[in-house]
Amino acid sequence: MKIIKAKDYEQMSRMAANILSAQVIMKPDCVLGLATGSTPIGTYNQLIEWYKKGDIDFSGITTVNLDEYKGLSPENDQSYRYFMNTHLFDHVNIDKSRTFVPDGLEADSAKACSDYDQIIADCGGIDLQLLGLGNNGHIGFNEPADAFAKGTHCVRLTQSTIDANARFFASLDEVPREAYTMGIGTIMLAKKIVVVVNGSGKADIVKKAFFGPITPQVPASILQLHSDVTVVGDAEALSAL
Ligand code: F6R
Repeated sequence: MKIIKAKDYEQMSRMAANILSAQVIMKPDCVLGLATGSTPIGTYNQLIEWYKKGDIDFSGITTVNLDEYKGLSPENDQSYRYFMNTHLFDHVNIDKSRTFVPDGLEADSAKACSDYDQIIADCGGIDLQLLGLGNNGHIGFNEPADAFAKGTHCVRLTQSTIDANARFFASLDEVPREAYTMGIGTIMLAKKIVVVVNGSGKADIVKKAFFGPITPQVPASILQLHSDVTVVGDAEALSAL
């Protein structure tokens, strides 16, 4: 595992964007696994800036996102499909039909999950997976649990995740209680993984996840077993190391 220390959020975002852009330049038809949340927004902004300068071409790439709230439509401004459109896809020359997010409107969880696993398999797997880190160590919406989940599954969000995400909704009651998420097994099959993390609030979980025992109670701890993980963190997030 490589740990890259950035001085602040802007530098963290540029460094992570550099890794993603190198991936796209080296393999223009690659499959990128993408994340939502507040951490990668700066990374996406940087990629858009470089695209506008003519430095990156997204026309050949495919993307698969980690997760989606169950019950939210793509038009809902809190859905992760909406997030990806507004924060990245609408601003670059990506073929939207090659961008995938679990189908939040599919009420049949088993079908939603097996369809998504099939999509990822049809893409040929993930070349580079971008991850954020939840306050409780979750990656995607793989919450602390008794075992690591392999494939896409439906999760009940923990109270700490519901509370953390409430900032994006009009009220706590509006935060969906369930989500579809890519499994830990699928994330671990990505050839390369980049984790972005910032802020002092993540300092303790960064230490636990990347230097503590490997346990499904801290889902990100499994990343210690992956052969190509780069953590790009700002000084605050890495301050407990
Ligand atoms: C979202 C996702 C989540 C977030 C995590 C951190 O697609 O996969 O695991 O990465 O909750 O969120 P932020 O970046 O908002 O702190």
